Amino acid sequence: MRFWTWWLLALLLQALPPAGASEDSSTAGPPGPGPRHWSYADKAQWASNFPDCGGSMQSPINIETSTTLFAPQLKPFQLSGYNLPPEETLSLQNNGHTIVLGLPANVSISGGGLPEAYLAAQLHLHWGSQGGPGSEHTVDGHHFAGEIHVVHYNSRFGGIKEAAREPGGLAVLAAFLQAGSEENEAYQHILESLDEVHEEGEEASIAGFDIAKLLPDNLHFYFRYNGSLTTPPCYQTVNWTIFNQTVLLSQGQISVLEESLLGDEEELIQGNFRLPQSLHDRRVLASFLMPPTAAAAPPAAEPPDGGKQESASLLTGELLAIVFGGLFVVTAVAFLLYARKHRQRPDAPAAKPSRIYLPATPEEPTGEGDASQAS
Ligand SMILES: *[C@@H]1O[C@H](CO)[C@@H](O)[C@H](O)[C@H]1NC(C)=O
Ligand SMILES: *[C@@H]1O[C@H](CO)[C@@H](O)[C@H](O)[C@H]1NC(C)=O
Ligand SMILES: *[C@@H]1O[C@H](CO)[C@@H](O)[C@H](O)[C@H]1NC(C)=O
Ligand SMILES: [Zn+2]
Repeated sequence: MRFWTWWLLALLLQALPPAGASEDSSTAGPPGPGPRHWSYADKAQWASNFPDCGGSMQSPINIETSTTLFAPQLKPFQLSGYNLPPEETLSLQNNGHTIVLGLPANVSISGGGLPEAYLAAQLHLHWGSQGGPGSEHTVDGHHFAGEIHVVHYNSRFGGIKEAAREPGGLAVLAAFLQAGSEENEAYQHILESLDEVHEEGEEASIAGFDIAKLLPDNLHFYFRYNGSLTTPPCYQTVNWTIFNQTVLLSQGQISVLEESLLGDEEELIQGNFRLPQSLHDRRVLASFLMPPTAAAAPPAAEPPDGGKQESASLLTGELLAIVFGGLFVVTAVAFLLYARKHRQRPDAPAAKPSRIYLPATPEEPTGEGDASQAS
């Protein structure tokens, strides 16, 4: 009796999808129906086949910047081995859900407030369609055109499949993709090979290049939270890093991404992102206090430069308001003391408060309302 129970259990466990079956952890399983099969069209059903997808530490999330906590222990990252020589060929695969670039394990990260070194496994992208939203994470409710995920696993584990199930097992570096005015050379390494992997399951080899160039220049400013894979099996083992600076691609490049790959049933892979999940009792940490002016990302809906300048000048405005507000209080107190002293002396000429000029307190014409609208 007991033997049979164990035997059944063993069979069941074997039937479960291996961790590596997800686009967020490694390569794809075979297409078609079965326990490994899932699609973005049936997101609401994920939790019935993959229980973790219904958990309370799911990804992506909306990052509400006003409630993030500044955490000074979130130091910059050290990237090693990211600059791959052209002799090192990398595999590029259309797994039916996204485009996956395999990375050698000598590519790694350390620092970034992570207690151990994490080794790279793969990177992949999420995107939308026709200039619509494509990012998984949102910032103050704002979606971006796309998102890159560089997936790493804890060096403590033998491989990504093992690590993907363990707390602290994975670390994903994420950055938002936005339309800019110039072509992004680094992304072109991937985009120019997409027609070789047009069909689901196709694989191509591309020459090594500097993978770091796919990420923002500024790796000091980022958000951190505990979350999950954003695709089934949704294991809740990911230390997420979301960079505050965005990556710019030309509009043409974003269109190539949106229109080159076929997935299930010969349909274009588009809108391959999951919507933000409930935060529950989690906290989102930030490695920075002030938005770096050069890194503050303009919303895609606004002209890029206008947005950038607005958020920068808003900050300067706030600072000025504090400084001048403080000066005003000091001046007012000094004046009151002066006036009182002079009123007590009948021979002294009375001070005329109405003539005393008040230092102008600069008021920002564009208030908080515009700021939140902009994000
Ligand atoms: C993130 O890393 C910390 C430190 O190793 C670990 O305690 C935590 O469980 C990790 N988070 C997740 C979701 O695995
Ligand atoms: C993630 O979870 C670990 C373990 O529960 C905790 O120590 C750590 O502070 C959490 N990290 C964040 C960013 O909340
Ligand atoms: C960067 O951080 C600033 C300040 O919190 C925020 O206003 C802006 O929306 C953030 N942008 C991204 C892409 O995280
Ligand atoms: Zn992803």
